[in-house]
Amino acid sequence: MFPGGHYHLGNPDPGRIQSNRIRVFTTQPEAAFAPAIAFGLCGEFNWSGFALDLFGLVIGRSKALSSAMLSYQHAYHAGNPADLHKHLALAELLGLLIRKPRGISYMETHAGRGRYDLGAAESRKTGEANEGINALALPDCPLRSAIGKTRARFGDAAYPGSPLIAQTLLREQDRLHLMELHPAEFGALRKALRSENTAVHHRDGYEGVLSLSPPRPRKGLVLIDPSYEVKTEYAKVADFTHRLMRKWPEATVMIWYPLLRAGQHEELLAGLKLKYIRHEVSFDLLGGEGMQGSGLVLVNAPYGSDAILERVLSSGQPVLRHLPR
Ligand SMILES: C[S@@+](CC[C@H](N)C(=O)[O-])C[C@H]1O[C@@H](n2cnc3c(N)ncnc32)[C@H](O)[C@@H]1O
Repeated sequence: MFPGGHYHLGNPDPGRIQSNRIRVFTTQPEAAFAPAIAFGLCGEFNWSGFALDLFGLVIGRSKALSSAMLSYQHAYHAGNPADLHKHLALAELLGLLIRKPRGISYMETHAGRGRYDLGAAESRKTGEANEGINALALPDCPLRSAIGKTRARFGDAAYPGSPLIAQTLLREQDRLHLMELHPAEFGALRKALRSENTAVHHRDGYEGVLSLSPPRPRKGLVLIDPSYEVKTEYAKVADFTHRLMRKWPEATVMIWYPLLRAGQHEELLAGLKLKYIRHEVSFDLLGGEGMQGSGLVLVNAPYGSDAILERVLSSGQPVLRHLPR
């Protein structure tokens, strides 16, 4: 999630909320071009040197960009109101998809570490869970069941991320494929999700899910939950969803996006030339400056989705508020 995102590269205070800001550490273009310019001025322009400089600049930039993208840590935000919205809906949706005994495939492009400790320093630093999952008593619902099972095994401060919610609710005939690019998050995910029916992948989530699609079983759900640290992610999600639907037309897709004042999510929605259900809620998140609510898009929503989204709203009260459109 972008709002409230924490960027650890050179950040003097990793716990500080830095919503709406991206800290990208790039090489200076001037520095990369300087030798080429110097040669040019001397009348001896060195094209191979120039090409190398250009290459260095591009690589430097893309390395810096990917470093910035991988500096997000969901541990600071686990259990916040946006997680509550997304996780309530995910758990309900999985319940709908497994009504029949046939197995399903579940995939995530951006899995995170799978299990969080709400008593950990990161979580205490932002206090975001106190404005989300800790601020309400969930009624009997699939998310409550997933949290209950997680806490029975790992203690009262444990909170399941989306991969663990899915693994807890799915059955042995179902298959999970979870993509996570951050090395430490991937390591934790692998440890937390070890199971026969679950594959964790240390790779780019967009590329990974596309390359495994269509999976067996063919009925299934893909969760797309990026951190939106770069503005281009909104368009990328729309583009990826089209490509995914071409390869795996039966898939149900759930996309999460933040509602920010600047309304960046509109680019995602405008780019989606598909039929979808949209569900948005507002909430208060004192630490998460800029995030006013959260949104979900369901593509190929199964029958019964409208009813479960109503339940999401009632289960999430008083933290989640209906946002009329
Ligand atoms: C918002 S968090 C995921 C939270 C998780 N879905 C949940 O609800 O518990 C986004 C995660 O995506 C990871 N990530 C960022 N870019 C990625 C990419 N291109 N492919 C796979 N994972 C990526 C980040 O390291 C981060 O752990």
